[in-house]
Amino acid sequence: MGFYDDYNFDGFKFFSKLKTSPLNVPCPQFLSIIKQFKSSTPPPESLTVAEIGIGAGATALQVLKLLDEGDVYYVFSREGDIKNFVEDLQTHDLGIKCQVVPCGNSNCLFDSYNWKLSNMVFKMRERHEAGIFDVVYLDGAHTLVHDGLAVCLLKELIKDGGYLILDDIFWTLAGSKWGREFGAGKFTKEQMEDKQVLRAQEIFLTTDPNWERLSTPKDHRGVFRKRIKE
Ligand SMILES: C[S@@+](CC[C@H](N)C(=O)[O-])C[C@H]1O[C@@H](n2cnc3c(N)ncnc32)[C@H](O)[C@@H]1O
Repeated sequence: MGFYDDYNFDGFKFFSKLKTSPLNVPCPQFLSIIKQFKSSTPPPESLTVAEIGIGAGATALQVLKLLDEGDVYYVFSREGDIKNFVEDLQTHDLGIKCQVVPCGNSNCLFDSYNWKLSNMVFKMRERHEAGIFDVVYLDGAHTLVHDGLAVCLLKELIKDGGYLILDDIFWTLAGSKWGREFGAGKFTKEQMEDKQVLRAQEIFLTTDPNWERLSTPKDHRGVFRKRIKE
């Protein structure tokens, strides 16, 4: 029984993929951190969260339902997916109350969500802000070249006390059909077989004293909280 078996996505351009995609299960850690914020006393005035890599929308749909008016959901992914996702939200009443900020990037070989994240860092610095996001779920390309940089940028973009979740810590390019096709000729054998998200986590998060690790080394999602400065 799949998570979305009971949903009717007839007429949806983007979310209809949830019926056939293997990516049809929402990320429980992302949802539970948002719920935790919502149930804190006093509750936050608003929440700003981001998902990086939308897949078929399995997590996005549940996050959108949790967020309230005043909350902001940034979604980063390839522009074609983001376009269809936004169109679905505009043409169907899903009862969504929050503001959605679509952040699509092109299919150019070296383009990724990192470009828009880097623009956000510049804007944030101009405004002398100390962070934008309360929670970020990073579930994009799963390579060091993408997600090592993403983690560096997100470390600055996440507020003190905010959370970063890294998915697929143990995933390798060599271990998936898509990864083997995508990686062929672009990565060495060693890189194909390496757990590249784990590499980004171990280099940039696990050893950083400003970040508290909430997951265990065995968890396939890394969950980290930015320490609040005293
Ligand atoms: C594993 S899926 C995400 C699943 C989704 N987070 C969920 O919970 O259902 C990875 C996503 O990252 C996107 N992605 C991979 N490389 C990317 C890149 N260079 N730029 C933008 N998006 C990328 C893919 O298109 C895909 O939508």
